Amino acid sequence: MAVILAIESSCDETSVAITKDGKLLSNVINTQIEVHQKYGGVMPEIASRLHCENIGLVLKEALEKANIKLEDVDAFAVTRGPGLIGALHVGMQCAKTLAMLYKKQLIPVHHLAGHIYANEYNEELKFPLLAVVVSGGNSELVLMKGHMDFEIIGETRDDAIGECYDKVARVLGLPYPGGIPIDKLAKEGTHVYHLPKPLSGEDTYDMSFSGLKTNVINLVHNLEQKGEKVNVPDMCRSFQDTAVGIVIDRATRAIKEYNIKQVVLAGGVSANSYLREQMKIQCDKLGANIIIPPMWCCTDNAAMIAKVAEHLYEMKVFAGLDLGVDPNWSIEKWNEFEN
Ligand code: KG4
Repeated sequence: MAVILAIESSCDETSVAITKDGKLLSNVINTQIEVHQKYGGVMPEIASRLHCENIGLVLKEALEKANIKLEDVDAFAVTRGPGLIGALHVGMQCAKTLAMLYKKQLIPVHHLAGHIYANEYNEELKFPLLAVVVSGGNSELVLMKGHMDFEIIGETRDDAIGECYDKVARVLGLPYPGGIPIDKLAKEGTHVYHLPKPLSGEDTYDMSFSGLKTNVINLVHNLEQKGEKVNVPDMCRSFQDTAVGIVIDRATRAIKEYNIKQVVLAGGVSANSYLREQMKIQCDKLGANIIIPPMWCCTDNAAMIAKVAEHLYEMKVFAGLDLGVDPNWSIEKWNEFEN
């Protein structure tokens, strides 16, 4: 194999990782979460500026930890999309500059492929595989019949599940990112509030979370208008059961229909305790293997980008120095990046 240096800057984490012959030598992550917390969500312009400030430092630390010199690197990999356009640009400019300066290959990587392939640090992938990709920006069920072969069989028609967690948390007065406090409080609550499960009963793997979010917001406001207080743990529990229930329902049907051998959880929301527990129960029932990612795999990091890049290096998937970012890049088009 080779020495790969990967860069991730698609949202609010600046990260650089280095692998050598498939072994992870370093994975340095600088998170901006505390800065964005006071705004209740990621501020794109601030994210880009912080990536600019941090990327040099993160790169230096990753090289030192790995005891690697830039001259030793065989390929520079970078997240090309999806993500925030300005944030993506910072990582892309850095990777292109390094590839040009050291005359090495440039590898464009799809962010969600990264979340899926992060699981390869723990276990070999087995096909047909169902990737349950749930994050702040995406909610997709991806069928994989082999390596780097992605088919989206279902996706959200509106909001991503993580976005919905964050908005519901905000209306309940909980801090950003909302998934963490909701997950914690749900354990202390009871499912007493009736919430809708849009598209349930329909013959589709698509999901919808926007109506669920609006329902929670309306319920909270109606109670407040009546002078009543919403029971926050009960609302967290009712919301979590419903939102995760939507994902579990689609995934369970897909496991049966596509004879899935292995289920992989990927993305920020895969840290959710209820999703992990329920998906494991369903997989055990249906005889499918499941990879539950360790917590470090759930947040954005460059190690996951390096893992995909190793496959692309073997496949000789390289880009020219005119490569641009694509904030809406579909995982099905991971090998289409000509500008
Ligand atoms: O993948 P990610 O780090 O960022 C992108 O969207 O790229 O995902 C962040 C999302 C946030 O919406 C956050 O609220 C959610 O993941 N999240 C969780 C949990 N931990 C983080 N959602 C539910 N339960 C959790 N334990």
